[in-house]
Amino acid sequence: MSVPNTVAVVGGGTMGAGIVHVFLAAGSSVVLAEADAVRAAVGLSNVEASLRKAEERGKLDRSATELLGRLSTVEDLGALPEDTALVVEAVPEKLDLKRAVFDAVARRCPGAVLASNTSSLSITELAGGLPGERVIGMHFFNPVPVQALVELVLHPGLAAETVATVRGWAEALGKTVIEVRDSPGFATSRLGLVVGLEAIRMLAEGVATAEDIDTGMRLGYAWPMGPLRLTDLVGLDVRLSIAEHLAAELGPRFEPPQLLRDKVARGELGRKTGQGFFTW
Ligand SMILES: NC(=O)c1ccc[n+]([C@@H]2O[C@H](COP(=O)([O-])OP(=O)(O)OC[C@H]3O[C@@H](n4cnc5c(N)ncnc54)[C@H](O)[C@@H]3O)[C@@H](O)[C@H]2O)c1
Repeated sequence: MSVPNTVAVVGGGTMGAGIVHVFLAAGSSVVLAEADAVRAAVGLSNVEASLRKAEERGKLDRSATELLGRLSTVEDLGALPEDTALVVEAVPEKLDLKRAVFDAVARRCPGAVLASNTSSLSITELAGGLPGERVIGMHFFNPVPVQALVELVLHPGLAAETVATVRGWAEALGKTVIEVRDSPGFATSRLGLVVGLEAIRMLAEGVATAEDIDTGMRLGYAWPMGPLRLTDLVGLDVRLSIAEHLAAELGPRFEPPQLLRDKVARGELGRKTGQGFFTW
């Protein structure tokens, strides 16, 4: 299977720009929807920066300029092409916002698959009141052009045909697909968080230094990066809010350690602030 001719991506931030990049590189025409003209221009330059970087590294079959020729922007979901086959939303992690986006898109593009890049929200809730057979979680990883995984999140009302189609599209992007039943934290966030939180507890208990905990997992378990460094990259605030969500949904084993709360309260959010478990 190849990628669809026309794809729309809603939100051109960190993830949306990467998603636009991979569909352009795989041959789709892409419409990027942003909230207003200023943010559309930012989204466009995010995509351009991502493509130019890939071009410099020799990762593109065609020039970045040629690929950008297949990209357009809109500031109103009512202006999306009606025959759009796939809409991927990558707006901020707020259920109401994502639902409003899908409502508008379902009205405008009646045949489209509605895919959400949410990393934690319930796909079942998101699909409520929509043509649920075509609503799916399509969870990409950051940076999208580099990370090989797409986690498909399946809810009870989803059609098997949609799953097969979206799997084919993701594979046409060169990604490996896993299928996960809709449940808090899906597979990746849930399991990744267990190790991340335990590493923080071990640090707080003085079991080992941050450096040694990470080196243990890198060299002992072949992790490409230790769990504390990864927490610094993701952002301690992001990890804290996911932990709070999973603690509420799945129980106290996801209760955030006090050290994580203290660091977030001090503004030590990881790489983005220069200080987390490591100094950047
Ligand atoms: N950052 C990550 O590592 C990561 C990884 C996997 C999944 N996700 C998920 O991807 C989604 C997006 O995350 P992000 O990190 O790219 O966020 P971001 O803040 O970088 O980008 C969000 C974009 O959405 C735009 N936006 C806001 N309201 C809009 C609207 N009404 N219409 C159109 N565009 C609108 C914003 O202008 C912004 O450009 C979230 O659901 C997040 O949980 C993030």
